[in-house]
Amino acid sequence: MDGALEVIDGDLNNPKTPMPMIRMIGVSKAFAGADGPVDVLRNLSLTVEKGDIFGIIGRSGAGKSTLVRCINMLERPTSGWVIVGGEDLTSLPPADLRRSRRRIGMIFQHFNLLSSRTVFDNVALPLEVIGGIGRHEIRRRVTPLLDLVGLADKRDQYPAQLSGGQKQRVGIARALASDPSVLICDEATSALDPETTKSILALLADINKRLNITIVIVSHEMQVIKELANNVAVLDRGEIVEEGTVYDLFAGAKTDVTCTLLRDIASRELPEAIRERVTAEQEPDGQPVLRITFRGPAANNPVLFELVREFAAPLNILHGHIDYIQGKPLGILTVAVGGGASHAAAIISRLNGYGLRGEFLGYVAARDLSAA
Ligand SMILES: Nc1ncnc2c1ncn2[C@@H]1O[C@H](COP(=O)(O)OP(=O)(O)O)[C@@H](O)[C@H]1O
Ligand SMILES: [Mg+2]
Repeated sequence: MDGALEVIDGDLNNPKTPMPMIRMIGVSKAFAGADGPVDVLRNLSLTVEKGDIFGIIGRSGAGKSTLVRCINMLERPTSGWVIVGGEDLTSLPPADLRRSRRRIGMIFQHFNLLSSRTVFDNVALPLEVIGGIGRHEIRRRVTPLLDLVGLADKRDQYPAQLSGGQKQRVGIARALASDPSVLICDEATSALDPETTKSILALLADINKRLNITIVIVSHEMQVIKELANNVAVLDRGEIVEEGTVYDLFAGAKTDVTCTLLRDIASRELPEAIRERVTAEQEPDGQPVLRITFRGPAANNPVLFELVREFAAPLNILHGHIDYIQGKPLGILTVAVGGGASHAAAIISRLNGYGLRGEFLGYVAARDLSAA
């Protein structure tokens, strides 16, 4: 306990380190199972800076929802500390916790709107729950929120009359009604089609910028994280296995879990027709297949030219793609190289020397190259 509080005090007293918006320190959560307690979060620590858009990604069942429910104390951690805006929520008495919780808005996959209430009345609900806010004041606060989410003309409609995207806009306006500093989005676009997902993510980015609200976005889809988040933590079995900027995650995933999640992003992958020709076993005419990730300043060097010159090996380009992540280019090029496996290893180590990343994917038969 002393250790954690020292860290908190340190932040408050040191003007050079601005206080993070959210800090989880050594958080564990166990649920009672049939055969004893089941550990869902294991000694997990993370920091979300003020104004950030922080992504949490992981497979279904990894513990993502439990993690964010611990941020607003919908779930109480079994152990550890949760500090939001400098306040240790784990030690607050119930009345103070209710007040502090209003600083944390949340939106959900299935919107959780009340079907018997109009759009306006759904957004007004959190203000009614707080109590002591007059009708005039409620209207003064709800009307601009409906404008912000683009639903001013739907204020008197009922949820059943709205599309999924419009329902989520109501959810967002309702989450903003109590003027939060943090907005938690738990699979907020998972029930929406890709076009609607894009428009909701754009709205969230706009809200982050305009209102300077810190956003924590949970998803099992890498595309969502890529489009919206700046920083990301990969959760697996209740532990953070990888963490950093979204760009770095895409440029250099370190764990199998992350690589599997990245596979969902089609642009990174070889087209099916080529992928099925890449094999683990080398046939007599097989050529190594390498994936080269171009990132950072080294991406501007004439690397391919250098490789061909140095190794005197033909390079066959199988697939190439340039992605823009947080506005920065990230190139991924898949090539077959002549000259066998030892050649491939030498090329990979040379790529690393250039500050680039080379990965060995398998072999492709030379006869398939001409067919492809
Ligand atoms: N209230 C609960 N009681 C018992 N087990 C739970 C409860 N909530 C979640 N779990 C279990 O915790 C694990 C993680 O769940 P969850 O946090 O919902 O994961 P995710 O959101 O990543 O899919 C799952 O195995 C789930 O069954
Ligand atoms: Mg979940």
